[in-house]
Amino acid sequence: MAEPNWNNRTLFVADNVRVLRGMNSESVDCIATDPPFNKKRIFNAPLGSRQAEQRFDDRWRWDEVTDEWQDLIATDHPAIKEIIEAAVVIEGGSIDHRTGKIDTGRVRNSIAAYLAYMAPRLVEMHRVLKPTGVLFMQCDTEANAYLRLLLDAVFGRRNFINEITRRRVEAKSYPTRRLPANSDTILAYGKSNKHKWNSSFEPYDLANLDEKTERQYDLWDGARRYTLDNLVHPEGNRPNLTYEFLGVTRVWRWERERMEAAYEAGRVVQTAPGNVPRYKRYLDEQPGRKRDDIWDDVVQLETSELDWDTRKPLSLYKRLIECGSDEGDMVLDPFAGCATACVAAEDLQRKWVGIDIDPVAEEATYIRLREATGLNMTEQPVTVRKSPPRRQDVQRVPDDKLRDVLWNRQGRLCANPYCDAENLRKVDLQLDHRIPKVRGGEDGVMNRIGLCGNCNARKGSKAWGLFLDEERAKLPHKKV
Ligand SMILES: C[S@@+](CC[C@H](N)C(=O)[O-])C[C@H]1O[C@@H](n2cnc3c(N)ncnc32)[C@H](O)[C@@H]1O
Ligand SMILES: [Zn+2]
Repeated sequence: MAEPNWNNRTLFVADNVRVLRGMNSESVDCIATDPPFNKKRIFNAPLGSRQAEQRFDDRWRWDEVTDEWQDLIATDHPAIKEIIEAAVVIEGGSIDHRTGKIDTGRVRNSIAAYLAYMAPRLVEMHRVLKPTGVLFMQCDTEANAYLRLLLDAVFGRRNFINEITRRRVEAKSYPTRRLPANSDTILAYGKSNKHKWNSSFEPYDLANLDEKTERQYDLWDGARRYTLDNLVHPEGNRPNLTYEFLGVTRVWRWERERMEAAYEAGRVVQTAPGNVPRYKRYLDEQPGRKRDDIWDDVVQLETSELDWDTRKPLSLYKRLIECGSDEGDMVLDPFAGCATACVAAEDLQRKWVGIDIDPVAEEATYIRLREATGLNMTEQPVTVRKSPPRRQDVQRVPDDKLRDVLWNRQGRLCANPYCDAENLRKVDLQLDHRIPKVRGGEDGVMNRIGLCGNCNARKGSKAWGLFLDEERAKLPHKKV
């Protein structure tokens, strides 16, 4: 596991795919985020002012995601590629399976384009999470099912944790031919089966108890409800826990000292002589009822001086972050907006890092932090960075050595699996990047390839993923 290569309380103002690619692997404990589906806000960014009334195209278009699509190396992520291609077809486009070429037809392929944009970002989010890490991703209803497929492909189906449904208090509109949409969906995934999880509790409403709790806590001590709990240890052979207490010998849950203290405090009771003593558990001391995956008790939105149209309730993010992390953990929101997740993390004594492409996010973050946490930003400053961090967990090897490594890894061949060049000499290997450096691709050996001169010439400046998809990568090669 690596240390984060950024400070606590950092906001990166840049495209998150580049920032994520610069982050050390396994350096984040929890991601809580709400990616844009309606992309309007993104292209406000370069203008620097949200008031600049430009005419935006709200939809995602395929021709805008070529970079992202090129970075998705089909051989590394075949499931992702299939999911995106399925979306293309569903939206009326087609795939030429011989050439791999995508024809988006006359439709704009908004979901497919959206997925192509999200996929490489999800791959990086997955990489930066620790094995104990948890991701929460809020989804738009329109993209929900597709995003879940993508998350299954990246995180593995077994690492799906929950689909949380949050009830909004008031529906946004009341259409006539369908039910009004009044929920938000949050998908939760673990990095592995060792992911963290803290149960979430809904405090009991003592004046209005549910039936089950009423039945369980049916004894009264003055005005306080209580129940009697088992004190006998479930396992048999525990010599240090086996003793006589109030005339009853059992294997107890506690050692004698603790048992006696609890008895003194009136918390261990024997209902009749000879009965097995039991623990007196008061309802008003319990954290509440364990929450399930339907949340109808989240405050709609706290008041703020900030008029930010996609702002989310702080209480929602606090609840998510409490489930998926502990105090001192590092929380990341790669689509930070006005920093709801970061502010929630600060409030819960977590460390945090946010990323947003919109420069307005900087001021918004200060405002929200001041409002909600009273953070003293002189003593505990927020770092704002415009360029991605540099990974410290990848080995930068000199060219000679890199050529050796690739020579061995590629079985003494060119990296192009279709290349038929023979008698390739080590010195003939030309060194290249899989994900180009300008898109945040790193220098470590995993991102490097060695090509024969011929393949390198054919590929030109094209991304590796796109080149491999092309027909001409597969044509017979001339001798080196
Ligand atoms: C739905 S909003 C997030 C709202 C946030 N949860 C809040 O409470 O303010 C999505 C945010 O993602 C940002 N964004 C969009 N594309 C991005 C990218 N490629 N890199 C970083 N941020 C991006 C937008 O600027 C926007 O602020
Ligand atoms: Zn070659």
